[in-house]
Amino acid sequence: MVSASKNPFTPTFGRVPALMTGREQILAEMTRAFESGPGNPNLSTIFAGARGTGKTALLLHLSRVAQEQGWISVNVSCIPGMLEDIAQQAYEAAADLVDPSEHARLRSVTIGSVVGVEWDNPEVPAGNWRTRMSRLLKALNAQDIGLVITVDEVQPNLDEMIQLASVYQHFVGEERKVSLLLAGLPGKMSSLLRNESVSFLRRANKHTLRPIADEEIAIGIRYTVEEGGRTIQAPAIEAAVKASEGFPYLMQLVGFQSWEQRPHADEITLDDVNLGAAMARKNFVERVLEATYFDLSPNDVRFLQAMLEDPEESRLADIAERLGEASNYTSTYKRRLIEQGVIGERGPSFVAFELPGFRDYLAQKCGPLSK
Ligand SMILES: Nc1ncnc2c1ncn2[C@@H]1O[C@H](COP(=O)(O)OP(=O)(O)OP(=O)(O)O)[C@@H](O)[C@H]1O
Ligand SMILES: [Mg+2]
Repeated sequence: MVSASKNPFTPTFGRVPALMTGREQILAEMTRAFESGPGNPNLSTIFAGARGTGKTALLLHLSRVAQEQGWISVNVSCIPGMLEDIAQQAYEAAADLVDPSEHARLRSVTIGSVVGVEWDNPEVPAGNWRTRMSRLLKALNAQDIGLVITVDEVQPNLDEMIQLASVYQHFVGEERKVSLLLAGLPGKMSSLLRNESVSFLRRANKHTLRPIADEEIAIGIRYTVEEGGRTIQAPAIEAAVKASEGFPYLMQLVGFQSWEQRPHADEITLDDVNLGAAMARKNFVERVLEATYFDLSPNDVRFLQAMLEDPEESRLADIAERLGEASNYTSTYKRRLIEQGVIGERGPSFVAFELPGFRDYLAQKCGPLSK
């Protein structure tokens, strides 16, 4: 029996998991970028992914990686007021560097004079946003300190997003040690990239966060359980992997609920996982599938119902025919549903359900299209 039984799984949106499962390549690439500094193209990176694929967790994790390499980082959501938020956070983080320890004395002289504040009273000085940020960056960079800005939930139509991108472009041009990491739903990211005023972002590094491979999920589950001080049987891992369907949030729910079955036992068994997975599916329906369904329009739903009669992939032409509509009609709804992470493309003329369990949920809720 184990006495400490704190559940190590993190089925909460925005929580950084015990292990960033399946993201080794991204992490290696970004760690290298923070190490090497200006000129590394990966310092400007865009992450696109459906709900629950781990965008927020990844941004937070990367900002910690950057901090370990001596960068300061500011994390914002793409909402009005974001620029001011970036300036405030950046000045506060810089003021934190200005600690009166021996070590930081040199640093404190330069940065302190830019931040222009007493230790405990950081104020953002006057000037427009670009000048203020530019002054801070210069002082930071003089001490070889970089600035990472992460922007979550990108909204392509927010003016401040466009402003940030174009000022950032100037900073890159001036060879500043600066990094911009953006994350959002796939549709929002592609719509941002279509905007002519930020066309330089098209050259940024891009990652689409796809479902995680089963072997990686297995590693993540075992690692997390062992971090929590327990073990898990091989058949139990296999069942948990199957129930997770490559989806990080579902994996966390399955792990969490399986752990909770007998939190004081040394080992997690197949029975624990079978019970846990059933509860996890219920949580997933309530927290993700229902919320997604209520965001859909009646025509989105009709499109999805028209997909139900195909066992896996659906041909767009078949969907159009079942709906009695022209093909440009289906392309509009296809785009909307991809943007919401409900379906994904399978080649140019096929689509399939992407959100785990959504097909069964919809079949139960609405049934196939009535003729
Ligand atoms: N690489 C990963 N491995 C394991 N678990 C992860 C990973 N990334 C995220 N998670 C977990 O998945 C869940 C969803 O993560 P997160 O909130 O980052 O998703 P998101 O893409 O930002 O979702 P949304 O679009 O709703 O904002 C959280 O419980 C988080 O702990
Ligand atoms: Mg998020």
